[in-house]
Amino acid sequence: MIQEIAPGSWQPGQAAVFVFQFSLLSDPENFLSLLDREEKDRAERFYFEADRRKFIVAHGQTRHLLSQFTRRKPVDLKFSKAGFGKPYLSDQSWYFNLSHSGDYGLLAVAGKNELGVDIERHHPQVNDLQIARRFFSEPEQAHLFALPPAEQKEAFFRVWARKEAVIKAIGHGLQIPLSCFDVEVHKNKPAGLHRLDYQDYEPGGWSMYELPVPAGYNGALVVHGMTDQIAFVRIQA
Ligand SMILES: CC(C)(COP(=O)(O)OP(=O)(O)OC[C@H]1O[C@@H](n2cnc3c(N)ncnc32)[C@H](O)[C@@H]1OP(=O)(O)O)[C@@H](O)C(=O)NCCC(=O)NCCS
Repeated sequence: MIQEIAPGSWQPGQAAVFVFQFSLLSDPENFLSLLDREEKDRAERFYFEADRRKFIVAHGQTRHLLSQFTRRKPVDLKFSKAGFGKPYLSDQSWYFNLSHSGDYGLLAVAGKNELGVDIERHHPQVNDLQIARRFFSEPEQAHLFALPPAEQKEAFFRVWARKEAVIKAIGHGLQIPLSCFDVEVHKNKPAGLHRLDYQDYEPGGWSMYELPVPAGYNGALVVHGMTDQIAFVRIQA
C-alpha cells in the first residue's frame, strides 16, 4: 500500500521504500553546486537550456534526498554504474532509481529492495497505437485494443510506464525484449507483472505499484520482493 506523507514530516526508516515526486522547474542555481564534474559536463551538453535546467534539478534533488538517507553531504556522494548503465551509490547500501519526464521527476529509494521507477508524460503527438503494436507483448496489445478507444491513450502510457519500471528495476535497459514480459493493462485491476521470460528472473519476485502522479502523467514503481510500506512524498517546488 502507498501512503502519502507530507514533505516536512518524512524520515528515513519510516517506510521500506520511498518515492519522492519533485518539480523539474525549480531554480537550478539551488542545485548546481551539488553536482560533480561529470554531471556538470553532461548538463553542458544539452542543446536546449530548458533540458539543461531540468537535468541539474533532477540530479541535484537526487543528491539532496539521498544525503538524508546516507547522512553524507550531497556533494560527497559518489556514483558508479552497473553493466548496463544503472547507477548505484558507490559505497552505500541504499538502492535508488531516478526518472524524469515533462515537468516532474521521481526518485525511489530503498534500504533493502532493488527497484525501478518511471514517470511518463502523456504526449498528444505520440503515435501510441503504432508503438504499442510494435513493442507491447501480445496479451498487452489484446487487452489495450479491447478497451473503448477513448481509454486507450491513457492505458498506453500506463503500460509504457509499467514496462519502463520493470526494465529499470532489472537494470538491463533495452537488452530486455519488451515482448518478453506482460504487465497489467487495466486501470481498475491491481498493477502487476504477470509474465517474465528473461534469463532466470521470476515474475513473482517483483511487486508493481501505480503511483499517484499528477494528471497528464503515469508513474509506476517496481520493487524486488514484497513490501506494504511505500511512502510517497510530494516535494514542494
Ligand atoms: C535508462 C532507460 C532504461 C530509461 O530511460 P527513460 O525512460 O528514457 O528515462 P527515465 O527518466 O525514466 O530514466 C533515466 C534515469 O534512469 C537511470 N538509468 C540509467 N540507466 C539505467 C538502467 N540501465 N537501469 C535503470 N536505470 C537507469 C539514470 O538515473 C537516468 O537518469 P539520467 O539520464 O538523468 O542520468 C533507457 O536507457 C531505456 O532503455 N529506455 C527504454 C525506452 C523504450 O523504448 N521504452 C519503451 C517502453 S514500452
